[in-house]
Amino acid sequence: MTVVSTSSTNEGPLTPVLTANWADDRSWTLASYAAQGGYQALDKALGMSPDEVITAVKDSGLRGRGGAGFPTGMKWSFIPQDNPNPKYLVVNADESEPGTCKDIPLMMASPHTLVEGVIISSYAIRANRAFIYVRGEVLHVIRRLQAAVAEAYAAGHLGTNIHGSGYDLDLVVHAGAGAYICGEETALLDSLEGRRGQPRLRPPFPAVAGLYASPTVINNAESIASVPSIIENGADWFAGMGTEKSNGFGIFSLSGHVTRPGQYEAPLGITLRQLLDLAGGVREGHELKFWTPGGSSTPLFTAEHLDVPLDFESVGAAGSMLGTRALQIFDETVCVVRAVLRWTEFYKHESCGKCTPCREGTWWLVQVLGRLEKGQGSAEDLDLLLDQCDNILGRAFCALGDGATSPITSSIKYFRDEYLAHLEQGGCPFDPAKSSLFEEVLA
Ligand SMILES: Cc1cc2nc3c(=O)[nH]c(=O)nc-3n(C[C@H](O)[C@H](O)[C@H](O)COP(=O)(O)O)c2cc1C
Ligand code: SF4
Repeated sequence: MTVVSTSSTNEGPLTPVLTANWADDRSWTLASYAAQGGYQALDKALGMSPDEVITAVKDSGLRGRGGAGFPTGMKWSFIPQDNPNPKYLVVNADESEPGTCKDIPLMMASPHTLVEGVIISSYAIRANRAFIYVRGEVLHVIRRLQAAVAEAYAAGHLGTNIHGSGYDLDLVVHAGAGAYICGEETALLDSLEGRRGQPRLRPPFPAVAGLYASPTVINNAESIASVPSIIENGADWFAGMGTEKSNGFGIFSLSGHVTRPGQYEAPLGITLRQLLDLAGGVREGHELKFWTPGGSSTPLFTAEHLDVPLDFESVGAAGSMLGTRALQIFDETVCVVRAVLRWTEFYKHESCGKCTPCREGTWWLVQVLGRLEKGQGSAEDLDLLLDQCDNILGRAFCALGDGATSPITSSIKYFRDEYLAHLEQGGCPFDPAKSSLFEEVLA
């Protein structure tokens, strides 16, 4: 898959759009956002019909930035407009996957980009009430969003008769209560309704019966934040970036053993090799051992995947998933068994308990991995682990269970010898003292 277009900027392959104003003075204020042309896209959208806005987003080829990559405009068009119930837009800003760290900086640095996106998107689906569901632990982000929403109300961007258009919208910032599963879209809806967050059986899909059993669109924060730029610059502009089927740009979050960790906004289809060049490479004196292309629930890649274009199709063809573009970089000092055990403990802890394969299976995965990591298991435990993964993958009620198997199966595929070395040496062959960033990388 070739990159259709890179960038018209002088920043090499980077395409700063969502991140363009992050370094501005008090970039999170309405004054700063408006000085850069903020809320002009809203004016433009309100001059279009809601269907025209949906068509523009469809034509842009924007695909969901929350992991699965579902086409955003198509999702909006599933809302049955003849349903007499109110329509809702819910923004998924729960961001709790290990490694994923793009929505929180976006909302901190430029909350109005998201708020403007919410207003345009709600207008398109004819919603008069929208919610931003934010991870509960990030109180600073919640406060910042609340302040931005208050500014937007005061300026007439929210509330009744927005910009004199006759369109009304109320926007609520809702704090979650600290569970990874509440990022799963139907568990999020239960949580937003005041219940314990557990995934719902589908159908009915949220587009038909979502929040309060009414038609609901749920989109990731970055997906919605991308909408103002699409309306402002046109569908062709967005579709001209990225690859043939993965259009546009996205925020790539580089963390771990990299010289300059951070958010790199670039067209989909960029490679890790290119991103590492921009980020100063793997930390000095060390080499790449393994990495996640899209967070801890996407199968691991190794140095042999440095040139895989980071778009939905190419990453899939290479055996993983683009996910949330959370590129966690691990160098040769890290024990892959330990890293995988740490992630698996996370999944066991976060399993909501609704279905048996995940509730029981993640517990058993930790038992077997734990003894292998201590060098106390046997070679048969590797087959046992794979068998357990096989009994979870595709049999769990939601994607959390599937995701828990990804680090295990991929690490056994690429690093079977390292698992066996634990058994041969009766313990971990790695020196944690040499891996200074070890805990930070996995946190
Ligand atoms: C366990 C789990 C956690 C998830 N967490 C998030 C999250 O924090 N943010 C998010 O946007 N999507 C998350 N998702 C994906 C959502 O279910 C959903 O696909 C997404 O919000 C749709 O938005 P998009 O189409 O704009 O990508 C999660 C899924 C699962 C299974
Ligand atoms: S897969 Fe795990 S998180 Fe999902 S419903 Fe089953 S127990 Fe809950």
